[in-house]
Amino acid sequence: MGFSLSMANLLGDDPLPIGGEFALFDGDVRIVRNEQRKYVPKGRGAYWVASGRDALLALVGRYGLSQSDELLLPSYICHEVIETLAPRVRVSFYPVKADLSVDIRSFESRIAPATRAVLLVHYFGFPHPQLQTMARSCRDRGIALVEDCVQAAFTRVNGRGLGSVGDAAFTSLRKFLPIPDGSWLVTRSRFPMRLQESPAHRFYVERRGAVLRIKGLSHQYARCVPDSVFKEAFALAEQAFGYRKPAPMGKVSLHLLRRFPLDAWARQRRKNYRQLLLLLPSKVKPLFCQLHAGVVPLGLPILARHRDALQQELADERIYAPVHWRLRGVPKEYEVAWNLSEHELTLPIDQRYRSSEIKRIAKAVRRYA
Ligand SMILES: Cc1ncc(COP(=O)(O)O)c(C=O)c1O
Repeated sequence: MGFSLSMANLLGDDPLPIGGEFALFDGDVRIVRNEQRKYVPKGRGAYWVASGRDALLALVGRYGLSQSDELLLPSYICHEVIETLAPRVRVSFYPVKADLSVDIRSFESRIAPATRAVLLVHYFGFPHPQLQTMARSCRDRGIALVEDCVQAAFTRVNGRGLGSVGDAAFTSLRKFLPIPDGSWLVTRSRFPMRLQESPAHRFYVERRGAVLRIKGLSHQYARCVPDSVFKEAFALAEQAFGYRKPAPMGKVSLHLLRRFPLDAWARQRRKNYRQLLLLLPSKVKPLFCQLHAGVVPLGLPILARHRDALQQELADERIYAPVHWRLRGVPKEYEVAWNLSEHELTLPIDQRYRSSEIKRIAKAVRRYA
Protein backbone atom coordinates (compact mmCIF):
# COMPACT_ATOMS: atom_id res chain seq x y z
CA MET A 1 0.00 0.00 0.00
CA GLY A 2 1.59 3.32 -1.07
CA PHE A 3 1.74 5.32 2.18
CA SER A 4 3.87 8.41 2.59
CA LEU A 5 3.29 11.45 4.74
CA SER A 6 4.79 14.75 3.63
CA MET A 7 5.63 17.51 6.11
CA ALA A 8 2.70 19.49 4.72
CA ASN A 9 0.43 16.53 5.43
CA LEU A 10 1.60 16.37 9.01
CA LEU A 11 1.22 20.08 9.57
CA GLY A 12 -2.24 19.92 8.10
CA ASP A 13 -1.67 22.32 5.21
CA ASP A 14 -3.45 20.17 2.65
CA PRO A 15 -7.09 20.89 1.88
CA LEU A 16 -9.62 18.25 2.92
CA PRO A 17 -10.42 15.73 0.20
CA ILE A 18 -13.67 16.12 -1.76
CA GLY A 19 -15.26 13.12 -3.49
CA GLY A 20 -14.30 9.48 -3.27
CA GLU A 21 -16.02 6.83 -1.17
CA PHE A 22 -18.27 7.75 1.72
CA ALA A 23 -17.47 7.47 5.44
CA LEU A 24 -19.86 6.19 8.09
CA PHE A 25 -20.44 8.40 11.16
CA ASP A 26 -22.24 7.47 14.39
CA GLY A 27 -24.26 10.68 14.26
CA ASP A 28 -25.97 9.63 11.01
CA VAL A 29 -27.52 6.47 12.47
CA ARG A 30 -28.69 7.32 15.99
CA ILE A 31 -32.45 6.91 15.50
CA VAL A 32 -34.76 4.82 13.34
CA ARG A 33 -36.40 7.08 10.73
CA ASN A 34 -37.57 4.72 7.99
CA GLU A 35 -37.37 7.53 5.46
CA GLN A 36 -36.54 5.00 2.72
CA ARG A 37 -40.24 4.09 2.57
CA LYS A 38 -41.19 7.10 0.53
CA TYR A 39 -38.54 6.50 -2.11
CA VAL A 40 -39.41 2.87 -2.90
CA PRO A 41 -42.19 2.71 -5.53
CA LYS A 42 -45.34 1.22 -3.98
CA GLY A 43 -47.88 -1.48 -4.77
CA ARG A 44 -45.61 -4.07 -6.38
CA GLY A 45 -43.20 -6.86 -5.59
CA ALA A 46 -40.34 -5.31 -3.62
CA TYR A 47 -37.09 -7.14 -2.85
CA TRP A 48 -33.93 -6.10 -1.06
CA VAL A 49 -30.92 -7.34 -3.00
CA ALA A 50 -27.19 -6.71 -2.64
CA SER A 51 -26.41 -4.51 -5.66
CA GLY A 52 -27.55 -3.30 -9.07
CA ARG A 53 -25.85 -6.31 -10.65
CA ASP A 54 -27.61 -8.68 -8.25
CA ALA A 55 -30.90 -7.06 -9.27
CA LEU A 56 -30.12 -7.48 -12.98
CA LEU A 57 -29.35 -11.19 -12.49
CA ALA A 58 -32.52 -11.65 -10.44
CA LEU A 59 -34.46 -10.17 -13.39
CA VAL A 60 -32.73 -12.44 -15.90
CA GLY A 61 -34.05 -15.32 -13.77
CA ARG A 62 -37.48 -13.74 -13.41
CA TYR A 63 -37.96 -13.37 -17.18
CA GLY A 64 -36.27 -16.71 -17.90
CA LEU A 65 -33.82 -15.08 -20.33
CA SER A 66 -31.21 -17.15 -22.13
CA GLN A 67 -28.77 -16.72 -25.03
CA SER A 68 -31.61 -17.09 -27.51
CA ASP A 69 -33.24 -13.96 -26.06
CA GLU A 70 -32.16 -10.39 -26.67
CA LEU A 71 -31.89 -7.65 -24.08
CA LEU A 72 -31.58 -4.11 -25.45
CA LEU A 73 -29.25 -1.73 -23.63
CA PRO A 74 -28.70 1.99 -24.24
CA SER A 75 -25.43 2.67 -26.07
CA TYR A 76 -24.34 4.81 -23.11
CA ILE A 77 -23.88 2.26 -20.36
CA CYS A 78 -21.19 1.10 -17.95
CA HIS A 79 -19.26 -2.06 -18.69
CA GLU A 80 -20.35 -3.65 -15.38
CA VAL A 81 -23.87 -4.00 -16.79
CA ILE A 82 -22.65 -5.49 -20.08
CA GLU A 83 -20.28 -7.90 -18.31
CA THR A 84 -23.01 -9.04 -15.94
CA LEU A 85 -25.58 -9.69 -18.66
CA ALA A 86 -23.55 -10.89 -21.65
CA PRO A 87 -22.79 -14.40 -20.32
CA ARG A 88 -26.53 -15.00 -19.73
CA VAL A 89 -28.42 -13.27 -22.53
CA ARG A 90 -27.75 -11.79 -25.98
CA VAL A 91 -27.00 -8.10 -25.47
CA SER A 92 -27.70 -5.48 -28.18
CA PHE A 93 -27.85 -1.70 -28.13
CA TYR A 94 -30.10 1.21 -29.06
CA PRO A 95 -28.58 4.65 -29.73
CA VAL A 96 -28.53 7.44 -27.17
CA LYS A 97 -28.37 11.09 -28.25
CA ALA A 98 -25.81 13.66 -27.05
CA ASP A 99 -28.23 14.93 -24.38
CA LEU A 100 -28.84 11.35 -23.21
CA SER A 101 -32.35 11.28 -24.65
CA VAL A 102 -33.52 8.68 -27.16
CA ASP A 103 -34.92 9.02 -30.65
CA ILE A 104 -37.96 6.80 -30.42
CA ARG A 105 -37.85 5.74 -34.08
CA SER A 106 -34.21 4.66 -33.85
CA PHE A 107 -35.08 2.82 -30.66
CA GLU A 108 -38.00 0.99 -32.24
CA SER A 109 -35.91 0.10 -35.29
CA ARG A 110 -33.60 -1.91 -32.98
CA ILE A 111 -36.39 -4.07 -31.60
CA ALA A 112 -36.11 -7.56 -33.09
CA PRO A 113 -38.30 -10.69 -32.80
CA ALA A 114 -35.89 -12.03 -30.13
CA THR A 115 -36.06 -8.85 -28.00
CA ARG A 116 -37.54 -9.77 -24.63
CA ALA A 117 -36.44 -6.87 -22.42
CA VAL A 118 -35.19 -3.28 -22.64
CA LEU A 119 -33.10 -1.40 -20.09
CA LEU A 120 -33.74 2.33 -19.70
CA VAL A 121 -31.31 4.35 -17.55
CA HIS A 122 -32.34 7.41 -15.54
CA TYR A 123 -28.97 9.11 -15.92
CA PHE A 124 -27.42 11.07 -13.06
CA GLY A 125 -30.69 11.21 -11.11
CA PHE A 126 -32.76 12.82 -13.89
CA PRO A 127 -35.95 11.06 -15.02
CA HIS A 128 -35.55 9.78 -18.57
CA PRO A 129 -37.43 12.14 -20.95
CA GLN A 130 -38.78 9.26 -23.10
CA LEU A 131 -39.83 7.02 -20.22
CA GLN A 132 -43.55 7.06 -21.07
CA THR A 133 -43.08 6.67 -24.83
CA MET A 134 -40.63 3.82 -24.45
CA ALA A 135 -42.88 2.14 -21.88
CA ARG A 136 -45.83 2.34 -24.32
CA SER A 137 -43.71 1.04 -27.15
CA CYS A 138 -42.53 -1.94 -25.07
CA ARG A 139 -46.03 -2.67 -23.72
CA ASP A 140 -47.48 -2.77 -27.25
CA ARG A 141 -44.91 -5.39 -28.23
CA GLY A 142 -45.05 -7.48 -25.05
CA ILE A 143 -41.45 -6.57 -24.11
CA ALA A 144 -40.41 -5.95 -20.49
CA LEU A 145 -39.12 -2.46 -19.71
CA VAL A 146 -36.62 -2.31 -16.85
CA GLU A 147 -35.91 1.08 -15.27
CA ASP A 148 -32.30 1.37 -14.10
CA CYS A 149 -32.52 3.79 -11.15
CA VAL A 150 -28.95 3.12 -10.00
CA GLN A 151 -28.14 6.82 -10.40
CA ALA A 152 -31.61 7.98 -9.35
CA ALA A 153 -32.55 6.06 -6.17
CA PHE A 154 -33.93 9.14 -4.41
CA THR A 155 -35.61 10.98 -7.27
CA ARG A 156 -39.36 11.35 -6.97
CA VAL A 157 -41.83 12.24 -9.72
CA ASN A 158 -45.27 13.60 -8.81
CA GLY A 159 -44.65 12.61 -5.21
CA ARG A 160 -43.76 8.99 -6.04
CA GLY A 161 -40.44 7.20 -6.11
CA LEU A 162 -39.04 6.80 -9.61
CA GLY A 163 -39.41 3.29 -11.03
CA SER A 164 -43.14 2.65 -11.19
CA VAL A 165 -43.73 2.96 -14.94
CA GLY A 166 -41.74 0.00 -16.26
CA ASP A 167 -42.15 -3.69 -15.45
CA ALA A 168 -39.27 -3.56 -12.99
CA ALA A 169 -36.85 -1.04 -11.48
CA PHE A 170 -33.74 -1.25 -9.34
CA THR A 171 -31.22 0.95 -7.54
CA SER A 172 -27.71 0.77 -6.07
CA LEU A 173 -27.56 2.42 -2.67
CA ARG A 174 -23.81 2.62 -2.22
CA LYS A 175 -23.70 5.22 -4.99
CA PHE A 176 -25.57 7.60 -2.66
CA LEU A 177 -24.98 6.43 0.89
CA PRO A 178 -22.27 5.26 3.31
CA ILE A 179 -23.58 1.71 3.19
CA PRO A 180 -21.80 -1.61 2.51
CA ASP A 181 -24.30 -2.84 -0.12
CA GLY A 182 -27.98 -2.75 -1.05
CA SER A 183 -30.53 -2.15 -3.77
CA TRP A 184 -34.27 -2.18 -3.93
CA LEU A 185 -35.73 -4.11 -6.81
CA VAL A 186 -39.40 -3.58 -7.57
CA THR A 187 -41.47 -5.56 -10.06
CA ARG A 188 -44.97 -5.18 -11.45
CA SER A 189 -46.07 -8.42 -9.84
CA ARG A 190 -44.60 -10.56 -7.09
CA PHE A 191 -42.66 -13.67 -7.98
CA PRO A 192 -40.74 -16.27 -5.95
CA MET A 193 -37.19 -14.94 -5.96
CA ARG A 194 -34.35 -17.20 -4.92
CA LEU A 195 -31.64 -15.08 -3.32
CA GLN A 196 -28.47 -16.89 -2.29
CA GLU A 197 -26.74 -15.83 0.89
CA SER A 198 -23.14 -17.06 1.08
CA PRO A 199 -20.15 -16.66 3.39
CA ALA A 200 -18.43 -14.78 0.54
CA HIS A 201 -21.21 -12.19 0.41
CA ARG A 202 -21.20 -11.79 4.21
CA PHE A 203 -17.44 -11.28 4.04
CA TYR A 204 -17.87 -8.63 1.35
CA VAL A 205 -20.42 -6.73 3.45
CA GLU A 206 -18.27 -6.96 6.58
CA ARG A 207 -15.16 -5.74 4.75
CA ARG A 208 -16.85 -2.78 3.13
CA GLY A 209 -18.67 -1.97 6.37
CA ALA A 210 -15.40 -1.98 8.28
CA VAL A 211 -13.65 0.35 5.82
CA LEU A 212 -16.61 2.78 5.82
CA ARG A 213 -16.56 2.81 9.62
CA ILE A 214 -12.77 3.25 9.93
CA LYS A 215 -12.94 6.12 7.44
CA GLY A 216 -15.63 7.75 9.61
CA LEU A 217 -13.66 7.22 12.82
CA SER A 218 -10.48 8.65 11.35
CA HIS A 219 -12.20 11.65 9.79
CA GLN A 220 -10.45 14.08 12.11
CA TYR A 221 -7.18 13.01 10.51
CA ALA A 222 -8.51 13.26 6.94
CA ARG A 223 -6.25 16.22 6.24
CA CYS A 224 -3.13 14.20 6.88
CA VAL A 225 -4.12 10.69 5.78
CA PRO A 226 -3.09 10.20 2.13
CA ASP A 227 -6.17 9.57 -0.02
CA SER A 228 -4.57 6.43 -1.45
CA VAL A 229 -5.02 4.69 1.92
CA PHE A 230 -8.81 4.50 1.72
CA LYS A 231 -8.84 4.17 -2.04
CA GLU A 232 -6.81 0.99 -1.72
CA ALA A 233 -8.77 -0.25 1.28
CA PHE A 234 -12.03 0.06 -0.68
CA ALA A 235 -10.42 -1.60 -3.70
CA LEU A 236 -9.41 -4.52 -1.45
CA ALA A 237 -12.98 -4.83 -0.16
CA GLU A 238 -14.18 -4.78 -3.77
CA GLN A 239 -12.16 -7.90 -4.55
CA ALA A 240 -14.72 -9.84 -2.53
CA PHE A 241 -17.50 -8.77 -4.95
CA GLY A 242 -17.29 -12.13 -6.71
CA TYR A 243 -19.83 -13.76 -4.38
CA ARG A 244 -22.72 -15.87 -5.74
CA LYS A 245 -25.46 -13.62 -7.17
CA PRO A 246 -28.23 -12.67 -6.73
CA ALA A 247 -27.65 -12.25 -2.99
CA PRO A 248 -29.91 -10.47 -0.49
CA MET A 249 -28.96 -7.05 0.87
CA GLY A 250 -26.76 -7.33 3.98
CA LYS A 251 -28.56 -7.10 7.34
CA VAL A 252 -26.25 -4.36 8.54
CA SER A 253 -27.03 -2.35 5.39
CA LEU A 254 -30.79 -2.59 6.05
CA HIS A 255 -30.17 -1.57 9.63
CA LEU A 256 -28.26 1.53 8.48
CA LEU A 257 -30.70 2.46 5.70
CA ARG A 258 -33.60 2.70 8.16
CA ARG A 259 -31.61 5.21 10.22
CA PHE A 260 -30.08 7.54 7.63
CA PRO A 261 -31.48 11.11 7.37
CA LEU A 262 -32.33 10.54 3.70
CA ASP A 263 -34.62 13.57 3.28
CA ALA A 264 -32.01 15.99 4.61
CA TRP A 265 -29.34 14.40 2.42
CA ALA A 266 -31.57 14.64 -0.65
CA ARG A 267 -32.15 18.35 0.08
CA GLN A 268 -28.43 18.95 0.52
CA ARG A 269 -27.66 17.32 -2.85
CA ARG A 270 -30.20 19.57 -4.56
CA LYS A 271 -28.86 22.67 -2.81
CA ASN A 272 -25.26 21.84 -3.78
CA TYR A 273 -26.25 21.13 -7.37
CA ARG A 274 -27.97 24.50 -7.73
CA GLN A 275 -25.07 26.37 -6.15
CA LEU A 276 -22.45 24.69 -8.33
CA LEU A 277 -24.51 25.22 -11.47
CA LEU A 278 -24.52 28.96 -10.79
CA LEU A 279 -20.80 29.12 -10.06
CA LEU A 280 -19.52 27.16 -13.05
CA PRO A 281 -17.78 29.13 -15.81
CA SER A 282 -19.74 29.48 -19.05
CA LYS A 283 -17.16 27.43 -20.98
CA VAL A 284 -18.07 24.35 -18.99
CA LYS A 285 -21.17 22.59 -20.30
CA PRO A 286 -23.41 20.91 -17.72
CA LEU A 287 -25.37 17.97 -19.14
CA PHE A 288 -28.44 19.03 -17.14
CA CYS A 289 -29.04 22.77 -16.73
CA GLN A 290 -32.32 22.52 -14.83
CA LEU A 291 -33.06 20.79 -11.57
CA HIS A 292 -36.78 20.01 -11.59
CA ALA A 293 -38.74 19.33 -8.41
CA GLY A 294 -38.08 15.89 -6.96
CA VAL A 295 -34.79 15.27 -8.79
CA VAL A 296 -32.00 14.12 -6.46
CA PRO A 297 -28.82 14.18 -8.53
CA LEU A 298 -25.96 11.73 -8.31
CA GLY A 299 -23.46 14.44 -9.18
CA LEU A 300 -23.16 17.36 -11.60
CA PRO A 301 -22.07 15.91 -14.96
CA ILE A 302 -20.22 18.28 -17.27
CA LEU A 303 -18.64 17.95 -20.68
CA ALA A 304 -15.06 19.17 -20.87
CA ARG A 305 -12.91 19.26 -23.96
CA HIS A 306 -9.75 18.15 -22.12
CA ARG A 307 -11.58 16.01 -19.62
CA ASP A 308 -8.63 13.91 -18.46
CA ALA A 309 -6.48 16.98 -17.85
CA LEU A 310 -9.29 18.59 -15.83
CA GLN A 311 -9.79 15.41 -13.82
CA GLN A 312 -6.07 15.34 -13.02
CA GLU A 313 -5.96 19.03 -12.07
CA LEU A 314 -8.88 18.55 -9.71
CA ALA A 315 -7.25 15.45 -8.21
CA ASP A 316 -4.09 17.50 -7.59
CA GLU A 317 -6.29 19.67 -5.37
CA ARG A 318 -7.76 16.60 -3.66
CA ILE A 319 -11.05 16.93 -5.56
CA TYR A 320 -12.04 13.53 -6.95
CA ALA A 321 -14.47 13.69 -9.86
CA PRO A 322 -15.37 10.33 -11.45
CA VAL A 323 -16.05 9.62 -15.12
CA HIS A 324 -19.42 7.99 -15.92
CA TRP A 325 -18.29 6.10 -17.93
CA ARG A 326 -15.21 5.01 -19.83
CA LEU A 327 -17.13 2.79 -22.25
CA ARG A 328 -16.13 -0.84 -22.78
CA GLY A 329 -18.00 -3.43 -24.81
CA VAL A 330 -20.15 -0.90 -26.72
CA PRO A 331 -19.67 -1.14 -30.53
CA LYS A 332 -17.68 1.78 -31.97
CA GLU A 333 -20.51 2.59 -34.38
CA TYR A 334 -22.27 4.34 -31.44
CA GLU A 335 -20.13 7.43 -31.97
CA VAL A 336 -22.31 9.78 -29.92
CA ALA A 337 -21.95 7.55 -26.86
CA TRP A 338 -18.19 7.25 -27.37
CA ASN A 339 -17.91 11.00 -27.71
CA LEU A 340 -19.81 11.51 -24.45
CA SER A 341 -17.56 8.97 -22.80
CA GLU A 342 -14.48 10.97 -23.85
CA HIS A 343 -15.70 14.25 -22.37
CA GLU A 344 -17.92 13.49 -19.40
CA LEU A 345 -16.84 14.27 -15.83
CA THR A 346 -19.09 14.12 -12.75
CA LEU A 347 -18.45 16.89 -10.22
CA PRO A 348 -19.26 15.90 -6.60
CA ILE A 349 -22.28 17.62 -4.99
CA ASP A 350 -23.29 15.01 -2.41
CA GLN A 351 -24.57 15.46 1.13
CA ARG A 352 -21.08 15.61 2.66
CA TYR A 353 -20.48 19.07 1.25
CA ARG A 354 -21.50 22.58 2.19
CA SER A 355 -21.18 25.91 0.43
CA SER A 356 -17.44 26.30 1.09
CA GLU A 357 -16.60 22.98 -0.58
CA ILE A 358 -18.85 23.73 -3.55
CA LYS A 359 -17.04 27.08 -3.96
CA ARG A 360 -13.71 25.22 -3.85
CA ILE A 361 -14.84 22.90 -6.65
CA ALA A 362 -16.11 25.81 -8.76
CA LYS A 363 -12.87 27.74 -8.22
CA ALA A 364 -10.77 24.78 -9.30
CA VAL A 365 -12.88 24.26 -12.44
CA ARG A 366 -12.73 27.99 -13.24
CA ARG A 367 -8.96 27.98 -12.95
CA TYR A 368 -8.83 25.16 -15.48
CA ALA A 369 -11.38 26.72 -17.86
C1 LIG B 1 -26.30 2.51 -14.77
C2 LIG B 1 -25.81 1.40 -13.90
N1 LIG B 1 -26.56 0.28 -13.80
C3 LIG B 1 -26.16 -0.74 -13.01
C4 LIG B 1 -24.98 -0.70 -12.31
C5 LIG B 1 -24.60 -1.84 -11.42
O1 LIG B 1 -24.78 -1.43 -10.07
P1 LIG B 1 -23.90 -2.08 -8.91
O2 LIG B 1 -22.56 -1.41 -8.92
O3 LIG B 1 -24.67 -1.79 -7.65
O4 LIG B 1 -23.82 -3.52 -9.19
C6 LIG B 1 -24.16 0.43 -12.40
C7 LIG B 1 -22.87 0.52 -11.72
O5 LIG B 1 -21.98 -0.29 -11.82
C8 LIG B 1 -24.59 1.52 -13.21
O6 LIG B 1 -23.84 2.62 -13.31
